[in-house]
Amino acid sequence: MLKKNRMTERFHMSRRTFLKVLAVGAVVLMGGGYLLRDRFLNDGNPSSTATDVIRGQRLPIPDLLTGTEMDGKRVYDLIMQPGSMTYVSGKQTATFAYNGNILGPTLLMHKGDEVVINVTNQLGEPTTTHWHGIHLPAIMDGGPHQRIENGDTWQAQYTIMNEEATFWYHPHLEGKTAEHVYHGLAGLFIVKDPQSELDLPDQYGTDDIPLIIQDKIFDADGSFNYPGTRFGVKGDQFLVNGAVTPVFDAPAQFVRFRLLNGSNARIYNFGFSDDRQFHQIGTDGGLLERPVPLTRLRLSTGERAEILVDFSGEENSQVRLVSFSSELDNINPIWNSNALDDSAFDIMTIDVKAATANPITALPASLASINRLQEGQAARTRPFVLEMGFSGPMTINGQSMDMNRIDQTIKLNDTEIWEVTNNSDLPHPFHVHDIQFLILTRDGSPPAENEAGWKDTVLVMPRETVRIIIHFSDFADPVKPYMFHCHILEHEDAGMMGQFVVV
Ligand code: C2O
Ligand code: CU
Ligand code: CU
Repeated sequence: MLKKNRMTERFHMSRRTFLKVLAVGAVVLMGGGYLLRDRFLNDGNPSSTATDVIRGQRLPIPDLLTGTEMDGKRVYDLIMQPGSMTYVSGKQTATFAYNGNILGPTLLMHKGDEVVINVTNQLGEPTTTHWHGIHLPAIMDGGPHQRIENGDTWQAQYTIMNEEATFWYHPHLEGKTAEHVYHGLAGLFIVKDPQSELDLPDQYGTDDIPLIIQDKIFDADGSFNYPGTRFGVKGDQFLVNGAVTPVFDAPAQFVRFRLLNGSNARIYNFGFSDDRQFHQIGTDGGLLERPVPLTRLRLSTGERAEILVDFSGEENSQVRLVSFSSELDNINPIWNSNALDDSAFDIMTIDVKAATANPITALPASLASINRLQEGQAARTRPFVLEMGFSGPMTINGQSMDMNRIDQTIKLNDTEIWEVTNNSDLPHPFHVHDIQFLILTRDGSPPAENEAGWKDTVLVMPRETVRIIIHFSDFADPVKPYMFHCHILEHEDAGMMGQFVVV
């Protein structure tokens, strides 16, 4: 008995000691854990070293180009040129831009317009200009095959067949897209349908507001730091229409925001600081069937969303547009995450001012009818498997981009299902040129209501399969290809891109 008691006693002693060791160990581990976590919450992108970044300027609104009428066509001129901005007190930032010093003008076009766009390259190096989301002949697409040498002018001509929506243009030179966009080359298109009788906010710059959202890294000398990080360049300064976390004076009424994620790699989770509800009315390529109420909107690179936000009766108040990034699941494995991915951060402040005369006072009940392509119409299903490793080229179906190889040949007027599988641990926004598609399923389930519209870019989450349905119409060319690719620009440049022809 005595022996047993002793043993129990000894056991108690050692248990107490053990608990102490455990407690000390836990503290050490936690400390180390935080250190490790900080170490690993590092996607390889450097932080800005500029200390005096100028924030809080008024939101710039890109000029609206309506084109000039010539022989029944609307003619637009874009000049790609070096520019200069002041982002850091007392310093100049060298930029690239269309027509001005950062980004480019918004091109206003109408469905049915025949347009001519003269794109002159004065950058001092070759590039291209691609019309993202526009349905057009491959030779007018502005992809890597429509190279514009320095000093040359490329003339793109096409008829606007797209639905009412927000599109964009940006360079697309093989291996250089990421760098060119990062330095400031990007602009929007607004396509309007003259037939539309919808009552939506349409005073450009007043209650119809383009928001091009990008992130950058600023060096101490004011320059953009483009580190070319393999898995994607993510900055720590947020620019809207080329100004760092600016202030927008909103009228106290329904305001339409046309959001473009024009960042190289960062995926946002937009919402407002007061968690208010807003309504998404449009996707990449058209209006939704009806407004979809949301409090958060995930937007990956290349995607657009049109939303309506009601500021009625809120004069003299303030609210912030925020990215609630930490709420996004499965966006970044720990090795590709940074502190911002793990937090919520401001994009823009909204100062609500007096309403304008005759604002819209209610949401339209319905917006558009969507011709839902049916699975049964599809001639075939094509698989696309996206892969990447820690080094080497990134691939689709085991192959990385080759300008001299056509990867897919599609018959004109066919409807197809494209089954896109992400066989990696990072999300990839899959983009297809020329057409707008509909999402059939996301990992077996129908898409969320706000994704059930025309899309040209869809985020495919790690290990997920997204099935999309596409109708290929109007333009056949056995030689000139269109592209499909990941719209994380560093992945695209690393080869996660392929080519298709329509014949
Ligand atoms: Cu927005 Cu192939 O591009
Ligand atoms: Cu595109
Ligand atoms: Cu990718």
